[in-house]
Amino acid sequence: MHSLGILLSGRGSNFVAIADSVDAGRIPDARIAVVISNRKDAPGIAIARERGLDALVIPSKGRAREEHDRDVVAALQQHQVDLVCLAGYMRLLSPWFVRQFPQRILNIHPSLLPAFPGLEAQEQAFAYGVKVSGCTVHFVDEELDHGAIIVQKAVSVLDRDSEHTLAARILEQEHVSYTEAIRIVLEGRFRIAGRRLVMTDAPTVHRRA
Ligand code: GRF
Repeated sequence: MHSLGILLSGRGSNFVAIADSVDAGRIPDARIAVVISNRKDAPGIAIARERGLDALVIPSKGRAREEHDRDVVAALQQHQVDLVCLAGYMRLLSPWFVRQFPQRILNIHPSLLPAFPGLEAQEQAFAYGVKVSGCTVHFVDEELDHGAIIVQKAVSVLDRDSEHTLAARILEQEHVSYTEAIRIVLEGRFRIAGRRLVMTDAPTVHRRA
């Protein structure tokens, strides 16, 4: 059984999509072991509690990054988490955190990376005038929005779009993409060649089952 740890800071719609996929068996042999927010008022953490999941608030405000990260990593380890999913977690991970879970931290970003990293990616893409944007699920490394790409989905920008309608269509694809990416990673049927994730027939990455 794989144990997922979800980190979030806000609305939590990607967390809900993952939780629904776990419940429906679209992410087989997995459970959500813990949901952690760095903000106590995050709607996502209230939803996690309503769903009966272990939900923790570990406030980050005013704390040094690595000191906060140590508490988060300790909580993830206590819950025996073997895959960490960032789902709208508005905090950079320290290099130390990343090293605790090598190739076992995923993030979702609402653009086709490497275009428009950072905050408000949908607004950045809309303002730039791109005709296609989308979302990316990638491994987390020590640079922002940077690790090897697992899944990307494209979304056309329509003439009638506003930044809000575009963001809403991207979000629909995010919800599908995150489940796909988690499955790929948990099944271990991939290898990383340079920056490229390449699918393989048999599992190549050992994961706790
Ligand atoms: C999503 O757009 C995600 O791509 C970005 O933060 C947003 C989180 O939304 N990293 P939600 O909290 O999952 O609804």
